[in-house]
Amino acid sequence: MRGLAGKTFIMAGGATGVGKGTALRLGEEGANVVVGDINIDGAKLTVEEITKAGGSALAVHFDLADEASVNDLVKQTIDEFGGVHGLFNVGADLSPNNLGRDTNLLETDLDVWVRTLDVNVIGYVRTARAVLPHLLENGSGSIVNCSSGTAVSGGDRKRPAYSASKSAINALTRHIAGNWGNAGVRCNGVMPGLVMGETQEKQNDTELQQMFLSRVPTTRLGRPADLGSVVAYLLSDDSEWINGQVWAIDGGANMRA
Ligand SMILES: NC(=O)c1ccc[n+]([C@@H]2O[C@H](COP(=O)([O-])OP(=O)(O)OC[C@H]3O[C@@H](n4cnc5c(N)ncnc54)[C@H](O)[C@@H]3O)[C@@H](O)[C@H]2O)c1
Repeated sequence: MRGLAGKTFIMAGGATGVGKGTALRLGEEGANVVVGDINIDGAKLTVEEITKAGGSALAVHFDLADEASVNDLVKQTIDEFGGVHGLFNVGADLSPNNLGRDTNLLETDLDVWVRTLDVNVIGYVRTARAVLPHLLENGSGSIVNCSSGTAVSGGDRKRPAYSASKSAINALTRHIAGNWGNAGVRCNGVMPGLVMGETQEKQNDTELQQMFLSRVPTTRLGRPADLGSVVAYLLSDDSEWINGQVWAIDGGANMRA
């Protein structure tokens, strides 16, 4: 893809799953990949995979909920690679103590709402605010935000805080795209369907997997690489006329044609 080799991209939450799939793909494309994550051991493993394959990458510990550590992530990126050209916001608090307690409006404790919005939404605000000035200085750049099919699919009976956080991310995507497209900075989003990264493998929710496969016109569940190729494209110059879009990457679960 054009415009990836030699450029530097931050994965904000790239230790495992979709973020890792994207980091690996960007590494293959010759980009410098910064794998930021609260799970530093996982981030280091991802970096090791990229560098073993001949790529260039850096692991950085950071917390989406902590503005100082977000700023430090961007500083370490620039110190190491001399600049930054794009950002993939992909981290989310999917822990059993947070997402696992996000059941329904009457039962979900307010601390779950606060934590979910703080990490999943305000976290992306923190990273975008830290990276955007550098992209504007370059006169070009791309931000991709990871949403979810739950942002738009109807009839969700579970996980109201998570779904609301993903709808908010779509609004943030439109805001950035609308305000800074004229200055050369694009912003798009992806809404994955059921993607079998490490977290989903561990949860091993076979009922959910079977429901997805019976409902969705596809032959299989999603893989991190399915998102990696699309996000790499949205970060590349091959997508330079795509702005303010949020794509469902889900085997056909959400059809909007
Ligand atoms: N896998 C799916 O089926 C699916 C479906 C729809 C949307 N998504 C979205 O895709 C994204 C990636 O999810 P995934 O399935 O690959 O799961 P994942 O658990 O592998 O990835 C989430 C990453 O975020 C990191 N993280 C969590 N809290 C953080 C914090 N406070 N600061 C920094 N990093 C933090 C985790 O350590 C992890 O590396 C998420 O935004 C998720 O909501 C996933």
